[in-house]
Amino acid sequence: MFCRLVAVGDTLYREHRPYPAQRRAGRDNSIRQHSVVRGETSVRSRVTVVGAGNVGATLGQRVAERDYADVVLVDIIPDMPQGKALDILEAGPVLGYDSLVIGANGYEETAGSDIVVITSGIARKPGMTRDDLVRTNQGIVTTVAQEVQKHSPNAIIICVTNPLDAMAQLVMKVTGFPRERVIGMAGVLDTARFRTFIAQELNVSVRDVQAFVLGGHGDTMVPLARLSTVAGVPLPELLPADRLDAIVQRAVDGGAEIVKLLKQGSAYYAPSASVLQMIDSILLDKKMIMPCSVHLEGEYDINGVFVGVPVKLGAKGVEQIIQLELSAEEKDALNKSAAAVREILTVMGV
Ligand code: APR
Repeated sequence: MFCRLVAVGDTLYREHRPYPAQRRAGRDNSIRQHSVVRGETSVRSRVTVVGAGNVGATLGQRVAERDYADVVLVDIIPDMPQGKALDILEAGPVLGYDSLVIGANGYEETAGSDIVVITSGIARKPGMTRDDLVRTNQGIVTTVAQEVQKHSPNAIIICVTNPLDAMAQLVMKVTGFPRERVIGMAGVLDTARFRTFIAQELNVSVRDVQAFVLGGHGDTMVPLARLSTVAGVPLPELLPADRLDAIVQRAVDGGAEIVKLLKQGSAYYAPSASVLQMIDSILLDKKMIMPCSVHLEGEYDINGVFVGVPVKLGAKGVEQIIQLELSAEEKDALNKSAAAVREILTVMGV
């Protein structure tokens, strides 16, 4: 797809058109009016990142480098988001991007954002489970969601703050946004970890490894070895069961492994890269299929709770929930994941 600007009356639209090769392949001949360009000078989408800590600031940098959106970093610490934003902005001339990067302690500057990523909260410390964070982060995320609802009522929200499935559910409740526009980031990261370990074990490119991880982010994630492949060959045909089990376990413990090594804070390079892939798919309307935490309403026989499943992400947010045929064992594991999220929701009173 490529994009051009079109004026209709006083309003500027961004039009997405397929490249000639895509047209020849019969892929999507339609012209989509993607987003209204705000103001007279801004021709970019706007991505707000709330929480300019490790994940948030790294994500801000990654989005700015994409050169397709302006970035607003918001944090409660005075001057800090402004300082980081300026630093990222000043890398533009060297790296060749024109993204405007702004730091703020409030939400005025975020108005009309296309995407808001919530990373504000406290990070997990060694020995702490994700669930220990729940009450502190609940208060933080509630305030942030109220502000986003007020200033960017049409935004798509990506929730990163842990425990993220429950936090995403909180965000949906507080904002009243439809489920298409509230998404939790976990599956892309969990899958990336799983793919990394498979590629290392088999000494192949990570690009040749396709993998699926379902379920909640944490101990209840469900890596689907059966549906994971290397150059199209199912994983169980390539690895003995004991090696496969060890790799699955390492993926499940992937976050904790990094927390232990860092001594303070938790992972942020891979988490921010994972959010970026989701933003790519939404802003560029790529319709990529990736595992995300979404509010299930009967899919997989689960109702009323956020769980990680494969979804199609496009300009409208979650455009489709892909329903895989699961074995009885896999279904059971997914139900356990949903139950674990429900337990946290009970603690939160949501
Ligand atoms: N509004 C805006 N920012 C806030 C608020 C708030 N109400 N409360 C806290 N913050 C900010 C903090 O000041 C801090 O800069 O959120 C930032 C969090 O950054 P880090 O502590 O560096 O945490 P990070 O590693 O980025 O992780 C962020 O992602 O992986 C999850 O569990 C992790 O919830 C954590 C989140």
